[in-house]
Amino acid sequence: MSIQVNERTGVFSLTTAHTLYQMKADSSGVLLHLYYGQKTDEDMSYLVRTADRGFSGNPYEMRNERTYSLDQLPQEYSGSGVGDYRVSAVQVTGANGSRSVDLRFAGVRTEKGRKALPGMPFVRESDETETLIVTLQDKVIGLEAELRYHVFPSQDVIVRSVRLLNRSGQEMVIRKAASACLDFPFGEYDVLHFHGRHCMERIPERMPLPRGVVSFGSRRGMSSHHSNPFVILCERHATEKSGECYGAMMVYSGNHLEEMEVDQVGGVRLVSGIHPDGFAWTLAPGEAFETPEVILSFSAQGLNGLSRQYHDILRQQVIAARWRQPRPVLINSWEAAYFDFDAEKILNFARAAREMGMEMLVLDDGWFGKRDDDSSGLGDWVVNERKLGCSMRELSDRVHEMGMKFGLWFEPEMISEDSDLYRAHPDWALTDPDRKPVMSRNQMVLDMSREDVVDYIYKAMCAVLDEARIEYVKWDFNRSVANVYSHALPANRQGEVAHRFMLGTYRLLERLEARYPDLMIEGCSGGGGRFDAGMLFYCPQIWCSDDTDAVERLEIQRGTSYGYPVSAMGSHVSASPNHQTGRIVSLNTRGIVAQSGTFGIELNPEKLSETEKDSIREQVRAYHRYQELIADGTYYRLTELDENRDYVAWMITSRDGSEALVSLVMTHVRANSPFPYIRLQGLLPGETYQLEGTDRCFTGAALMHGGVAVDQAREDYEAVQLHFVSTRKKG
Ligand code: DGJ
Repeated sequence: MSIQVNERTGVFSLTTAHTLYQMKADSSGVLLHLYYGQKTDEDMSYLVRTADRGFSGNPYEMRNERTYSLDQLPQEYSGSGVGDYRVSAVQVTGANGSRSVDLRFAGVRTEKGRKALPGMPFVRESDETETLIVTLQDKVIGLEAELRYHVFPSQDVIVRSVRLLNRSGQEMVIRKAASACLDFPFGEYDVLHFHGRHCMERIPERMPLPRGVVSFGSRRGMSSHHSNPFVILCERHATEKSGECYGAMMVYSGNHLEEMEVDQVGGVRLVSGIHPDGFAWTLAPGEAFETPEVILSFSAQGLNGLSRQYHDILRQQVIAARWRQPRPVLINSWEAAYFDFDAEKILNFARAAREMGMEMLVLDDGWFGKRDDDSSGLGDWVVNERKLGCSMRELSDRVHEMGMKFGLWFEPEMISEDSDLYRAHPDWALTDPDRKPVMSRNQMVLDMSREDVVDYIYKAMCAVLDEARIEYVKWDFNRSVANVYSHALPANRQGEVAHRFMLGTYRLLERLEARYPDLMIEGCSGGGGRFDAGMLFYCPQIWCSDDTDAVERLEIQRGTSYGYPVSAMGSHVSASPNHQTGRIVSLNTRGIVAQSGTFGIELNPEKLSETEKDSIREQVRAYHRYQELIADGTYYRLTELDENRDYVAWMITSRDGSEALVSLVMTHVRANSPFPYIRLQGLLPGETYQLEGTDRCFTGAALMHGGVAVDQAREDYEAVQLHFVSTRKKG
């Protein structure tokens, strides 16, 4: 039993393999957070201490108890306007204009398993999942909050979300509805967040939490390149291998906010949810609002330990089970041809890719409507047969005849000003009345909050998907959202548009999934602008970045790995000099970096020499050999963040510890330099491992404690890959 409701003490305990989470309603009905961290067998309520702090007022019923203040009690879901001055979890305006919310305990129940979150991505139940539902109420305004906790014991994960229900007889407006609030009574924490920009996503930044509020988030209508919906709080001395770390990851792809506050006495509060800026959701009597989910996890095994828990929960319970199989190695036409192609060129790519051992051809942007550059055509999902020289059916058939699968690019949520769709339905774009829209990449954003728009795009996509033989869709999203105004909603509902937009996108994804269960969708947003657990629910892999430079990718993929598994990272070998940076990097290094992901190429085979083709053929062969290990294995970052600037190293160990793939890229060669010593992880100490391609053998203990000197890379950007296999496995 991972959930215990102790009738005697009133303590609710959530237990996972290594963690304990506890809460309890006090005598005033305030739901106190007692503890989250390493497992103990104790009632942790002794941790809650109070004192008369001054300027921290008391609820009326406790007016004679000056040590009792919401301003210092650790809480599960803080209200607002009633004496807790820290960042709040929920804000609501009632019919009389009052903004105060004061939630008190009203009931608790447990459920085996978990219910789906309708219309939104969620963490799928496992055999072990149990759910705790705590109901809080503010009887004055008639607001009910159902706090949900889904426990995933083996992965050391607790998933939280909230359902807000209007039990009053009048409308109320939700201004803020966080998915989770987590209070720590003490702790000196660093925060790690993942910032970035187009072509440089999820760059980790670590800093001590100062007094006051630190927040990260996105108001771009998408989870964004700029701030991933994932934060880590860790002990100041935590490293990749040791120290206590907490993670909070939203299962959501739209606007989000992560707030961390260190209060007057050093307590820490973390609040995570939909960004309240621009958000206002009207609830009629009897209506409910569901927040997205947040995945909480704790590890005492350092940052690597925490990452592994996120990798596991995403691979096992978020990404659909049917994608737990080798995914096709692909050639994508984008950097190979951009908009300049016809069917013959594409077929030549497919033929060459097939000869190099690849399994799928993906036709990127430019196959539809009027689309020879990015100035027109989005929304007109009609095959441009004149440009191709044949129908999509014929093209896809001919690709299949070569023994290859076929994939196609779409950007379903966008509309070009110069498109038949926009000419017919200008009101289908998100635009402010009487105001010229903000343009970005010459395009506007479709109003996905409208059912008729979702329906139209669904049918337009189905027409193409039904006509041709298509196994894969690349789902792109190439601008931030602005002019968040729906012409189908009244003035007082415009604060709902950004979230309704996401619900519309999820609905479209769900409808397509229901109709084409075998269709693999790769997420993309100008690279990795929507790399989040919400999209991973529908898309087993996401294009990591439009920056395909292998050296830049070291940072991008490393940063991504804090929260997300390599099996989700779209990564390809592209041209050298690289199209984004002009950097020249060897094919060997480009291959090794792309192999720590879904692997494919983004190259024009016509420009490759026979030697290069042979090398790529060898890379594809190696990837096929390691594919299961890479997709399913345990990932370790072997170099500390900012520890050294000379090389980056990482490894993947199979779950049974029988083999490991170690990769190292030299980023800065120095004269007379020390050897890069790498200590391996996750091996079996007593096992003997042979280094592939040599007759050298080592015990797991030697490799993990003594390590190996990886000194073969002697030039900037040169890479080394070492494969160790247990001699028992080799037989
Ligand atoms: C951005 C994507 O990230 C690229 O890979 C490519 O698909 C272009 N969009 C096409 O417009």
